[in-house]
Amino acid sequence: MEKILEDYPRNERSNLIPILQDIQQEYGYLPENILAEVAEYINIPFASVYGVATFYNQFRLKPLGKNVIRVCRGTACHVKNSANILIALETELNIKAGQTTRDKVFTLETVACIGACSIAPVININEEYFGRVTIKEIPKIIKKYKNMAKLDEEKLAESAV
Ligand code: FES
Repeated sequence: MEKILEDYPRNERSNLIPILQDIQQEYGYLPENILAEVAEYINIPFASVYGVATFYNQFRLKPLGKNVIRVCRGTACHVKNSANILIALETELNIKAGQTTRDKVFTLETVACIGACSIAPVININEEYFGRVTIKEIPKIIKKYKNMAKLDEEKLAESAV
């Protein structure tokens, strides 16, 4: 963290956004205690830093889940039922778009066109793309990732023994 701030002059408020971008790059989100350090460093009230962090969609205040599901809301996908795909995912995971499950296994997000319109509707989980996805397939897809997360956990537990 000090290293990030070192790149910027102290008390220089105009650097707030680039500093926040650097922090998010480093941590994947903006931890609250770090925002407090930033406020002190550039000498503006914490509430102002927090206000900027919540105003822009590019910033997130909570860490991402292990698996990030992105539902395309571009026009081609919209025409092919992406709104209902999103609802199916929200129901399956019991969270709303923009949220992370309590066990931190999934984060659900919506995105603009992800450039695969020919296979709309498209969702993407981490690096994997699912084209022409149907509501019926959703539980199966989620289960696969849940199982993988469980396996990882088991491996971790074994290696700790
Ligand atoms: S609109 Fe969804 S991939 Fe283009």
